[in-house]
Amino acid sequence: METKIFKPDQVSEAAELIKQGQLVAFPTETVYGLGADATNEQAAGNVYAAKGRPSDNPLIVTVSSIEMVEQFAQPLTDQVKQLMTKFWPGSLTIVLPLQPGKLSKTVTGGLDTAAFRMPANQVTLKMIATAGVPIVGPSANTSGKPSPTLAKHVYHDLNGKIAGILDDGPTQVGVESTIIDMSTAVPTILRPGAVTVEQLEAVIGAVKADHHHVKANEIPKAPGMKYKHYAPSAQVEIVDHVNDFQSAMDWAGQQREAVGVMATDDVLANLQLPANVEAFSLGADVQSATHLLFAGLRHFDLESAVKVIFAEGFANEGLGAAYMNRVDKSAGGMHFTNE
Ligand code: TXA
Ligand code: MG
Repeated sequence: METKIFKPDQVSEAAELIKQGQLVAFPTETVYGLGADATNEQAAGNVYAAKGRPSDNPLIVTVSSIEMVEQFAQPLTDQVKQLMTKFWPGSLTIVLPLQPGKLSKTVTGGLDTAAFRMPANQVTLKMIATAGVPIVGPSANTSGKPSPTLAKHVYHDLNGKIAGILDDGPTQVGVESTIIDMSTAVPTILRPGAVTVEQLEAVIGAVKADHHHVKANEIPKAPGMKYKHYAPSAQVEIVDHVNDFQSAMDWAGQQREAVGVMATDDVLANLQLPANVEAFSLGADVQSATHLLFAGLRHFDLESAVKVIFAEGFANEGLGAAYMNRVDKSAGGMHFTNE
C-alpha cells in the first residue's frame, strides 16, 4: 500500500478513508496521531499492528465535540465540564468512566474508562466532524520511538502500513498532551504535558501527580507508562547543570565515535565543541526545547551515527515537567555527572 499525503484542503478525502475503516495519520498541536474509526473494532485493531504496539495499551479517543464524548462516557460531572470549557480544544486528555459496552475492548484495553481528547487543530477537528465518528489517536510513531512532530516523521515510521497522512506542517507543542484521570476520587495527572498542574489546580482545586517511573512488576495507572519510550539508538544522557556541559564535551573529545549535544543557544555558544561532536540547537528556552526535543532525537537517530547524545536538563516545573518526563524516558533515567 502506498501511503497518500493529504494537504489541509483534501480533508474530506481523509475523512472518507476513516469512514471506510482505513488508517489515517492526523496533525494535532502536540504530536501527530494515528487515526481510525473508534467505533470500528477491526480498524482500531489495525492501529496496534501498524505501530507495533502492545495490545494491552489502550487508545486515546479523539473527538470534535463534547456531545461526541457524551455518547460514550457516563454523565459529565461539573468539574469535568469546567476542564473541557477551559482547556478544549487543547492539550488536555481526560480519563472518564464509560457507559458499559459502548466502546470495544480493542480501544479500551478492557478498562471501564477511556481517555478523551479534543486537539487544537482545525483540520483534524473537521476530519472527525466530517467522518461523524470519534477516532482513536495514539501518537503516529513506531512503538518505542520518539513521537512525530512532522508529517515526514510519520512517513518514515509508517509508510506502506497506513492509507494516508493529513499534513498540516509542524506541530506546535512538541510533546503529547497532559493526561488527567477524572474517574478517581482525587483527580490524578498520569502524564505531564503543556497544560500544567498549576493551570489545572486553578480550575478544579487539588490534583495528584502520578507519573513516576513505573517498575516492571508494578501495575501502571496509564498502561503506556511501563513501556520503553522515545528511545533513539544512541544512549541519551541528561546534563542537569550548565556547568557540566564542558566536561561532557571534554569526555566526548576523547571518544573515537561521534557524539551529539542538544542544548539551547546560550549553552551552545559557550561550549568548545570537539571535532567529533555535532550540535543540535534546542532554540532559546524550555518552550522551544520542548517543541524540538523529539525532532532532535530523530535527527541523531536517522542522520548521524552518534553513540551518545547529551541533552540539556530544565527545572522540573511548568512545561519543564513535560520536557523532563520525556527526556528522562528517552535517557532511561541516565544523567551525566562530572565525576
Ligand atoms: O497528545 C496526545 O495525547 C497524542 C496526540 C496524537 O493526540 N496522543 C497520544 O496517544 O499521546 P498515546 O496512545 O501515545 O498515549 C496515550 C496514553 C497511553 O500511555 C495510554 O496508556 C494512556 O494514554 N491511556 C489510554 N487510555 C487510558 C485509560 N482509560 N486510562 C489511563 N490511561 C489511558
Ligand atoms: Mg505514544
